[in-house]
Amino acid sequence: MPQEPTLIIDVQQVDKTFSVKAQNVQVLRNVSLSVYRGDFIVLFGPSGCGKSTLLHIVLGLESPTRGRVKVLGRSLYEQLDEDERADFRKQHVGMVYQQPNWIKALTVKENIMFGLRLSGLTSRDAEPRANAVLQLVGMQEWQDYIPTELSSGQQQKVALARAIVTNPDVIIADEPTGNLDFESGQELMTLISTLNNQGKTIIMVTHDLEYLAFARRAIQMFDGQVVQEIDDPAAYVQHGGQIFKRSTVPTTLSL
Ligand SMILES: Nc1ncnc2c1ncn2[C@@H]1O[C@H](COP(=O)(O)OP(=O)(O)OP(=O)(O)O)[C@@H](O)[C@H]1O
Ligand SMILES: [Mg+2]
Repeated sequence: MPQEPTLIIDVQQVDKTFSVKAQNVQVLRNVSLSVYRGDFIVLFGPSGCGKSTLLHIVLGLESPTRGRVKVLGRSLYEQLDEDERADFRKQHVGMVYQQPNWIKALTVKENIMFGLRLSGLTSRDAEPRANAVLQLVGMQEWQDYIPTELSSGQQQKVALARAIVTNPDVIIADEPTGNLDFESGQELMTLISTLNNQGKTIIMVTHDLEYLAFARRAIQMFDGQVVQEIDDPAAYVQHGGQIFKRSTVPTTLSL
């Protein structure tokens, strides 16, 4: 019998308002999002539509003005305080940003081991895990480099290795391809997709529609709202900043 999908992130009717110079600016409106184990969700939409804010709320970094956020069954803002949320994040989430943040005095491998060492693992226990993830992303030959000596594409592969070394329940990536050329972007997406096929749950933000096809689900945001959920993103093509379902592409477009 097929197993019931496990809901690991449950965002219900979230609003977020920031106060800027005594004015309230509503950045998210009634956003709901369900993420199941094994999902690969791409969240897309124009700059400023609230993608990063939504991720921050899911990460426990920013409390919603209204609504409920449950991660792995825990109500982040009702059951946990700030320190507990930080621990929870370290334990359960791997993060990748557009710009990786390196400890500059450490090598690639030491950077990957750093989080494990902080959580109490000895070098002897941490090193084989770092070796394994370096191999997974094809960067083992670069382990003794300082990360900033690598190309942006290589650094993002190492950032991905660092995100998965703790064996998190979910990987959250905010524009991980934002600084990459087309080829490095495709390579990173292929790698992320491979991790997903091996069972990792991924939520990724992008405004590059090229990457939709890698995901299992795509969620479009506009002006603080979820405006479309797409269950078969591979069936879509992008043209001129819009997406079209392949079967409905206007014949006047040469794609
Ligand atoms: N801490 C904050 N205080 C005030 N306004 C904020 C804050 N964080 C975000 N905003 C505003 O919320 C809106 C959404 O920002 P957000 O960073 O979520 O957009 P985004 O979709 O990630 O955009 P991009 O694609 O450019 O990264 C923006 O108008 C931004 O100015
Ligand atoms: Mg953003």
